[in-house]
Amino acid sequence: MSNIIKNIIKLKDEVVENISKIKEEQQLNNEKAKYLGKKGIIAEAIRMMDTLDESGKKELGRVSNETKKLINVCLENQRKLIENEKINQKLLKEAIDVTLPGTKIKTGTRHVLRQTVDEIVQLFSEMGYIVAEGPEIENEDYNFEKLNLPKNHPARDMQDTFYITEQILLRTHTSPVQVRTMLKNNGNKPIKIVCPGKVYRRDDDDATHSHQFMQLEGLIVDKKVSISDLKGTLDEIARKMFGEDKKIRLRPSYFPFTEPSVEVDVTCNCGGVGCNICKQTGWIEILGAGMVHPNVLTACGYDPEVYRGFAFGLGIERIAMLKYGIDDIRNFYINDIRFLNQFN
Ligand code: PHE
Repeated sequence: MSNIIKNIIKLKDEVVENISKIKEEQQLNNEKAKYLGKKGIIAEAIRMMDTLDESGKKELGRVSNETKKLINVCLENQRKLIENEKINQKLLKEAIDVTLPGTKIKTGTRHVLRQTVDEIVQLFSEMGYIVAEGPEIENEDYNFEKLNLPKNHPARDMQDTFYITEQILLRTHTSPVQVRTMLKNNGNKPIKIVCPGKVYRRDDDDATHSHQFMQLEGLIVDKKVSISDLKGTLDEIARKMFGEDKKIRLRPSYFPFTEPSVEVDVTCNCGGVGCNICKQTGWIEILGAGMVHPNVLTACGYDPEVYRGFAFGLGIERIAMLKYGIDDIRNFYINDIRFLNQFN
């Protein structure tokens, strides 16, 4: 038998083992070229066909055809094996262990000031109040003039103001929202709103002052509203906010937009014995309030002969400080996670 044919027969024995060892698809392609390509082993043998006699030619043709088929089958099988192995590896890698404990996702919480606002708003909405909001950049007319605080009124000094232009300012209280609401209602609809929001004053920051803080003001305008309604409302709110055993007292005070004006105190946790928080008085001031001044009603389109109203305003920070025993207002703003986490 010619060497050419012997070589091919030998090749037949080898390929099965060779191909079965291949692990990469690229290597399979190389191998295919090596055996079956134009310059491959078989093509090489065929080119030498002329050197054989008739029966040798036949034999070579038969053997090389068989070998080609065998190689093709082996390559195809190996290709499938490699592919399956790839899929198995992938499945293995992506396997999900359903018994693993889930990863806890850290979510933020509402800021303690937001929580306090939400709680107070909740109390008032149970009493039928609607939330009204307005811009923090206001005009002087709404922040002062319509609230019975004309230019050069000494009480403007009580609210040190950040001016942007001569007429535009950062609101010093949320009362302009009340002005806006009254104007919108054209002097003929009753009003029952609370206005929470940020306000700004040119204070030097210290433990009890901040140039920016939060207020919540309330306003009722209707035909029959008296100071006893105001007192009843505040009594109810104080008890819900600070505890059922709490009492309030009204002290005469002065605000340009209310007449009469009062300051409202609630009994201290010390039960009247006197402590640091109430400065030994047994009472803690929580808000300012009063009957809406006739000038304000008039300026905002309501006839003071027909309509009356009461208003109150409280500082959110102050309420939260009292409620949680916080002694420095700056804690609310520096976002120390150790502080904030306590209200989680
Ligand atoms: N607007 C007042 C302030 O910021 C608070 C207040 C509101 C007082 C309503 C009385 C009535 O000082």
